[in-house]
Amino acid sequence: MSLILRRFTHQDLAKVVYINRRCLPENYSESFFMQLYRSFPEAFLVADDGGDVVAYIMCRVERGFFGSPKRGHVISIAVLPQHRRRGIAYALMVEAMKALHALGAEECYLEVRVSNKPAISLYEKLGFKIDRRVHGYYLDGEDAYIMRRKLPLEDEILNRPMRGISRGINPPRSVEGGNE
Ligand code: ACO
Ligand code: ZN
Repeated sequence: MSLILRRFTHQDLAKVVYINRRCLPENYSESFFMQLYRSFPEAFLVADDGGDVVAYIMCRVERGFFGSPKRGHVISIAVLPQHRRRGIAYALMVEAMKALHALGAEECYLEVRVSNKPAISLYEKLGFKIDRRVHGYYLDGEDAYIMRRKLPLEDEILNRPMRGISRGINPPRSVEGGNE
């Protein structure tokens, strides 16, 4: 079965909460996920592997001070361990940043633990640069890097082969199913 990217729907909530708890120490309430979904549904995506959600990304569009451009903020991204290194996170980041730009964001930023080598490499591959280090950002005292990049993405990033992941955002799978 093929792996597609599609928008999050309410039916995915329990699985996304599970993936978040399984993969990251930063956990959120169900209402936080739903609030982001209701505010920025275009930028809350999941990877669906033949009906099984294996990864998510959720983002927010933020307006800076008066006159400053809108910014996309990647709040959280995670891929279940057994599905890593297949390009899923890369594809989710690309599609989320396209959506953020379509929502008017002129740059994208995120926080990442300074020890999180896999995530930092992913973001560097996507053209992010470390902007600054925030001491004691996380609850356990670890520092964060703030990484950012301008939008839109360059063609070189957009056109990188997606390793079997179909490009673009697919419609939600029908809950009833059986129509294919
Ligand atoms: N070591 C080194 N580089 C890596 C690694 C790794 N373990 N994982 C990814 N990369 C880099 C590589 O350059 C890779 O390209 P390549 O495979 O061609 O070498 C590139 O990132 C793309 O990798 P993907 O396969 O797209 O990444 P994956 O789907 O495995 O997901 C992720 C990466 C999200 C960091 C995953 O490891 C994960 O879920 N980790 C736990 C949760 C987490 O740390 N999330 C990020 C927190 S910060 C935030 O949410 C804003
Ligand atoms: Zn944040």
